[in-house]
Amino acid sequence: MSATSPVRPVLPPDIRARKGSEPLVVLTAYSTPVARLVDAHCDIVLVGDSVGMVIHGLPSTLGVTMEMMILHGKAVVRGAQKAMPVIDMPFGSYEEGPQQAFRNAARLMSETGAPAVKLEGGQHMAETIAFLTARGVPVMAHVGLTPQSVNTLGGYKVVGRAEEAEKVMADARAVEAAGAFSVVLEKVPEGLAARITQELTIPTIGIGAGVRCDGQVLVVDDMLGLFTEFRPKFVKRYAELGKAADEAIAAYAAEVRSRAFPAAEHSFPDVLPVKK
Ligand code: KIV
Repeated sequence: MSATSPVRPVLPPDIRARKGSEPLVVLTAYSTPVARLVDAHCDIVLVGDSVGMVIHGLPSTLGVTMEMMILHGKAVVRGAQKAMPVIDMPFGSYEEGPQQAFRNAARLMSETGAPAVKLEGGQHMAETIAFLTARGVPVMAHVGLTPQSVNTLGGYKVVGRAEEAEKVMADARAVEAAGAFSVVLEKVPEGLAARITQELTIPTIGIGAGVRCDGQVLVVDDMLGLFTEFRPKFVKRYAELGKAADEAIAAYAAEVRSRAFPAAEHSFPDVLPVKK
């Protein structure tokens, strides 16, 4: 599968048709080797703008650029043979209006080969989502906590408690009506996420939104224990690769210093005798 392949094996209508059946399994990836690992087990591989924080060391997702998303998107599409790649639209690439959003979404799709994009926002993004879907751009929506709005939300808080619940419900209804093929619910109280999942006809993909969504997504570096700067409550660590890597690097450093590495089996014998 490559950017030039005509049709991928899983496309947005296939994901939409999974509503109410077996849970959708989604992980992020930012490189070809990790995309290959994710591809073997997941339905969707998300090139999240979380790449800015977990790979590039940025303090938030706000500094992520189109060029970063295209570079990582190309790498992931190369590694994903069956899982469907989705690319995040970075902050500032779609909020001005439908035309700007179409121009940048088309660039993400044509330059990477991914068949869909994701963007953040509910009712206020409905016009843009409708514009994109009518023009051949499948959109995964993202409501609840939308990290690109961290400064207006006042932090990475749970969104949708008490009277805020009806606003999140209205956001979810609006993105469905606009034509999104699925919607991420981030850091939404579990009862509200269950209500949204029950009412919507498109799949909901939860992250910190409880078990009653149609699928789940995590940032791969979080669940592998590679990104350890902070750990939201919704992250379950399935491995401690950061700790394993630290131990391996410490062992390498000690062996280089003690000249235990490289050993004979890592070296190349001379053909001619070495002159003393
Ligand atoms: O950027 C990202 O990785 C995301 C997921 C957390 C849903 O948007």
